[in-house]
Amino acid sequence: MTIHIGAQPGEIAPTVLLPGDPYRAKWAAETFLDAPKQVNDVRGMLGFTGHYKGNPVTIHGSGMGMPSLSIYANELIRDYGAKTLIRIGSCGAMQDKVKLRDVILAMTASSVSTPSSGIFRDFNFAPSADWSLLKAAAEAAEAKGVSAHVGGIYSADVFYDERPDLNEQMTRHGILGVEMEAAELYNLALRYGVRALAVLTVSDHLIRHEALPSADRERSFGDMVEIALEAAFA
Ligand code: HPA
Repeated sequence: MTIHIGAQPGEIAPTVLLPGDPYRAKWAAETFLDAPKQVNDVRGMLGFTGHYKGNPVTIHGSGMGMPSLSIYANELIRDYGAKTLIRIGSCGAMQDKVKLRDVILAMTASSVSTPSSGIFRDFNFAPSADWSLLKAAAEAAEAKGVSAHVGGIYSADVFYDERPDLNEQMTRHGILGVEMEAAELYNLALRYGVRALAVLTVSDHLIRHEALPSADRERSFGDMVEIALEAAFA
């Protein structure tokens, strides 16, 4: 057990999927895993371990934002020995060519700051995905006929951002979408020598001012979970 995870040693699989929302973790585990067992509920942050095509998998909430994700990712990697961590979550699109429900595979994650900024200080480290996972996820998306964009994303500190000029610069520099967790997941994975990727579904569009109705979110979320699971065991 750690401060924030109540699982016993051995109850967390080497492969962990990390949705922001603990109820999404429950839904994904019950929908895609064989014999899911709840392994955490500390502070309502649910985690489940089961099997996908015979492989052990944990699906565990990360909470919203990099400070929350950092707590869970640190404990999963350093205390439970997680070796492959895949964020599954939603993002806002920042390019016209990216449509609602499309999947974004985050090759890099830019940021204004992360919980690792204190380490890097004036060094602009470029957090990037694990290539084997990125390649396998692109292939899994193609095999499923899901439209996937591979490129850079922006991990924001603020959801209700009152600095719109920054979004314009992101769009101008090809950033595909905005979310709030991937950059620190990549920092930690690279620091500890494990694999990480963020597989994201476009839930809203910052340029077109569109949003997915909540009923549609579950279906596109399912594609993303399957792409993440296929990539993890490719
Ligand atoms: N901003 C930040 N995070 C997000 C967004 C957004 O517009 N949409 C989904 N996650």
